[in-house]
Amino acid sequence: MASCGLLRHAIVMSYLALFILLNVSAAPKKVKVALYYETLCPACSNFMVNNLSEIFRNELINIIDLNLVPYGNAKLHNTTITCQHGPDECFLNTVEACAIHAWPDLNEHYRFIYCIESLVIAEQDYSWDSCFEKTGLPRKPVDDCYYGKTGQQLEVQYAKETDSLKPPHEYVPWVTVNDRPLKENYTDFMSYVCNAYEQIGDHTPRGCRHLPHQVISKAKENEMKLACYAEEKAT
Ligand SMILES: *[C@@H]1O[C@H](CO)[C@@H](O)[C@H](O)[C@H]1NC(C)=O
Ligand SMILES: *[C@@H]1O[C@H](CO)[C@@H](O)[C@H](O)[C@H]1NC(C)=O
Ligand SMILES: *[C@@H]1O[C@H](CO)[C@@H](O)[C@H](O)[C@H]1NC(C)=O
Repeated sequence: MASCGLLRHAIVMSYLALFILLNVSAAPKKVKVALYYETLCPACSNFMVNNLSEIFRNELINIIDLNLVPYGNAKLHNTTITCQHGPDECFLNTVEACAIHAWPDLNEHYRFIYCIESLVIAEQDYSWDSCFEKTGLPRKPVDDCYYGKTGQQLEVQYAKETDSLKPPHEYVPWVTVNDRPLKENYTDFMSYVCNAYEQIGDHTPRGCRHLPHQVISKAKENEMKLACYAEEKAT
């Protein structure tokens, strides 16, 4: 009797295992990448415009679940936020948060954010609103978000998300792959993504084919000088 019950139990369990397996393999296979950043930190703008944008050209975008968190080293006191590079940065952080909210499609909001960060690099961020025309995206949803309560609420959420990082971020840009911080290796994120994808994926995406498996970034020291450290005072 006992062994019969055991057998039935084993059969039920293997069906359950099969069911779980099938369900898991049916889910889209993606690697989680998060970027914690602030809009006026030069290293963030450089990374977003010159490096992260590469994933839209080499197909890696298809295997990445990208989470942009525009808050960085800002501080939340009660419900008031102060930013490392002053009120202009708080303004643009909120504008970019509103863009993500207004256009949930990554291709759309990244295009807009890319436009703003390119202007930051050119030291022309005062003309950020030319990005509506340049991208063909409408101004109204961003205005509604910024001047309504939503913009502020989004930033408070991003504050909480950033402040609950474990381990806490030390500087921005702070990149995590499947929740693991890459720290000083952040510009090599594609190697980390491809290595992570090898465990779950069934083919090698085009963008992974010519990447080094080993992380060997030579420009690291210069990049790290441009990073914005959490304890740095605003300039
Ligand atoms: C980041 O982009 C810059 C500019 O295109 C390039 O020179 C640099 O090699 C890139 N860094 C990495 C690690 O790919
Ligand atoms: C801070 O929050 C507390 C309640 O959490 C409130 O009583 C207080 O007025 C707030 N202070 C400011 C400056 O907003
Ligand atoms: C960065 O890469 C170097 C060289 O591969 C490695 O020794 C180091 O542990 C890496 N850092 C992190 C945080 O993964």
